[in-house]
Amino acid sequence: MSNLLQLVRGCTFDDFLFNPQYSVVERRDPTAIDLSCQLSTRLRLRRPIVSANMDTITRAEMAIAIAEEGGIGIIDRGFRSGDIEPQVREVERVKRRQHGIVRDPYTIRADAPLAEAASTMQRTGVGTLVVVDESRRLTGLLTTRDLRFADHARTVADRMTPRDRLVVREGAIEAAAAEEAMRTHKVKKLPLVDDQGRLLGLVTAKDLIKQKRLPFATRDDHGRLRVGAAIGAKGDYLERAAELLRADADVIVIDIAHGHSAVMGRAIDAFRAKFGDVELIAGNVATAEGVQFLIDRGVNGIKVGIGPGGGCTTRLNTNFGVPQVEALVTCREASGGRVPLIADGGIKRDGAIAQALLFGGDTVMLGSVLAGTIETPGDTVQKPVVIPESHKTVKVPFKVFRGMASLQAIVDRLDVEDAESADVEALGAEGTEISVPARGSVRPVVRDMLKHLCSAISYGGAGSLSELQEMFRRDPSRYAIRLSESARRESFDR
Ligand code: XMP
Repeated sequence: MSNLLQLVRGCTFDDFLFNPQYSVVERRDPTAIDLSCQLSTRLRLRRPIVSANMDTITRAEMAIAIAEEGGIGIIDRGFRSGDIEPQVREVERVKRRQHGIVRDPYTIRADAPLAEAASTMQRTGVGTLVVVDESRRLTGLLTTRDLRFADHARTVADRMTPRDRLVVREGAIEAAAAEEAMRTHKVKKLPLVDDQGRLLGLVTAKDLIKQKRLPFATRDDHGRLRVGAAIGAKGDYLERAAELLRADADVIVIDIAHGHSAVMGRAIDAFRAKFGDVELIAGNVATAEGVQFLIDRGVNGIKVGIGPGGGCTTRLNTNFGVPQVEALVTCREASGGRVPLIADGGIKRDGAIAQALLFGGDTVMLGSVLAGTIETPGDTVQKPVVIPESHKTVKVPFKVFRGMASLQAIVDRLDVEDAESADVEALGAEGTEISVPARGSVRPVVRDMLKHLCSAISYGGAGSLSELQEMFRRDPSRYAIRLSESARRESFDR
């Protein structure tokens, strides 16, 4: 057993500090310090942040914000069994939010009435329609400006900019070349066609500007934001995966409470048989045997964490689990870096992100620290709160945060409003539901985390995240200080 493993036995984040080292960075600045990391064997992120697949944390809005900030969101599977479409729609919303080149722009025929164009624009929120003929050959462009003051009974042909007045490119094009063409010709839209004049795609200046404004965003080869989606290991999981992949989800996460199980083994085998080499993350596990089990089945990423989650009562209810730092060190030693690990759960303060990434995680998955932000799903409710000093009652906005195995989450998923209460209790909840104060956007929360991570890299004497991880793993004893109870109080009680 390694020295580090002996040191961290029975320990979690608040049991350690790290020894400061001679600092070499000039600025603790996330735009200057490399924070890139592997989410899974083939997916790289520029920031090691993953938003948890929980129904009170990650739907499209959160996934968009996190991907734009350089991480990735995993859309939860907390939709009713058999009800696959709502989860697919969330994935589609993320994939449609930003483009480099729009591969499937919305189109319309030249003989369609303008009223139809107006309603398509309103329904899709898109301001440009590409006009094509029955063979999908480009015949013009129609924008919201063309509809202004127009008689909606007229046809698209009457108002569109026809093909011969457009700047058009034949074949594929890189973003830089598209930008150059737009600048030269002073146009904001650049349709792409094949040698027969058939529509291949559309580049818009707006998308290119957005790409420049968000240089760290996590994008696929087409310039769209990346997003993951969770499935279970039973029931509709294969059908759900098929639909999610059809919507271009970038990675599937088979997420069950106990990933080192016969159920998981069967699910991975069936998944691989049906979808081949698709990028697949599985979990959760917290032991060397669990990691080896998943690696043997060919997963591309592993979620580590049994019971550390903020909304989780597994340890209270079953007494099973592994303190998260011990779990991360154990799983890292077992994986030997063959498959990236996601440190999932238990992160309550920004300093613990650095710990999770040094003790074993390649990325961190966050739930409760993102709760209450604008991008989380769910309504804001006003609750009366008594101010202790004045004994006055004021209304404070709250949002719900709950474990995915909480009774209410299970009931919602199963659609069992009418079930007997004894039946519902027999479901065996392993999660809690709490109200958290509603707050602003998640973006400053993530940016602060990244700044703090850069500070940790500076204190650690490294120039990048991967360098700090290498230095720590080469000689953990140089860094890790196990805390006494009073040292813990001095460090974290505030
Ligand atoms: P944090 O601490 O960031 O953890 O809120 C998020 C992770 O908690 C896990 N999770 C659960 N675990 N019962 C559990 O045992 C639950 O009801 C539950 N809900 C979420 C999950 O791994 C998530 O990513």
